[in-house]
Amino acid sequence: PAKFDFHGSHQAGILAPVRRSTALLALDVTAADRAGLQRLFQTITERARFLTSGTAAPEVGISTVPSDSGILGPDGVAGGLTVTVGVGASLFDGRFGLASVKPAKLRTMEDFEDDALDRSICDGDLLIQLEADDADVVTHGVRELLRATRGDMQLRWRRDGFSSPPRPSGTPRNLMGFKDGTSNPLTSDAKAMKELVWTHGGENGEPAWVEGGSYLAVRVIRMLVEFWDRIGLDEQQQIFGRFRGSGAPLTGTKEFDDPHYELDSTGAVIQFNAHIRLANPRTAATANQRMLRRAFNYDAGVDANGNLDQGLVFTAFNQDIERQFVTVQKRLAGEPLVDYISPIGGGYYFALPGVKNASDWFGKGLF
Ligand code: HEM
Repeated sequence: PAKFDFHGSHQAGILAPVRRSTALLALDVTAADRAGLQRLFQTITERARFLTSGTAAPEVGISTVPSDSGILGPDGVAGGLTVTVGVGASLFDGRFGLASVKPAKLRTMEDFEDDALDRSICDGDLLIQLEADDADVVTHGVRELLRATRGDMQLRWRRDGFSSPPRPSGTPRNLMGFKDGTSNPLTSDAKAMKELVWTHGGENGEPAWVEGGSYLAVRVIRMLVEFWDRIGLDEQQQIFGRFRGSGAPLTGTKEFDDPHYELDSTGAVIQFNAHIRLANPRTAATANQRMLRRAFNYDAGVDANGNLDQGLVFTAFNQDIERQFVTVQKRLAGEPLVDYISPIGGGYYFALPGVKNASDWFGKGLF
């Protein structure tokens, strides 16, 4: 649909289908005190509610500063926009008296074994992700959000991404040519979402206010595409455990066939260290480690050495970031894929519960 309901018990951008264009904004709060932080959350809420509604900005006289940048023309455009707001561990450091309400599992992202993190593109007090059907709607949203909040928050880092239409069918592809997102828990499965995505107040050591929120792991992962494009198709497919063209597991023929890891009569195998096998061993004990991934590609031009700067903006929603993302990331340590990628940025955030109605606002439960 071209428009997602802003109000609800969860933020709309978490379960909505991945849209074509995104911007992730990591911000630091510069508001002086608790009251300033409340005002900031209220302003972000008001702007997000307005921008996602597709309402035209009010007209002002020609001698006045316009109330909107005009990027989308005079009419209101919803454009499939969602604005998803998360908070980082640093917001709870004492500046705003929030230490006692910190989500139990929220912390600063560590350096994993194969990481090359640039801390200037990690972390942040807030993470705001905009997604829309077209890039101009995202850019417009970024401008209007930042304009309204100047003085209370400052951009720390930003990463833009895009997703592809089905080519020729099924799930969008990443820049290694593989379909990415095939084996995700189904967003239509309420039980799975309850057990894998949403946090629950009073459970797992969580404060009451987190009900309906979710932990967001963001990883900006550069792909060494020049190297990748020089290896054979069979090696590429073994690395993931899937066929590049169809997205089918190497033990199947269609994208959504279930992979199986035991030797079967056809002799097809998925290697022990294949990405999908390490990421999801498909055992009873690891079933609650699954997460909801939303992958985007990025193409950031060229680096100082003349190499293409491309990769994946990996985002995943988790009920418990340790049990899910961290456990899986550790299991992926040293997988054959690491020779062709380099994680450079990202962070852990807590995606706030949804804004329930016109008088509710992001983060109200924190105060
Ligand atoms: C599956 C690519 C990083 C977790 C897949 C698949 C591909 C892929 C092609 C198979 C299709 C699918 O089910 O989506 C990549 C690339 C990465 C990357 C290119 C880095 C540039 C990660 C990271 C994690 C992760 C950092 C988590 C720590 C998973 C999981 C699955 C998966 C859980 C599903 C496995 C299953 O249920 O079969 N990935 N991935 N991936 N990936 Fe990744």
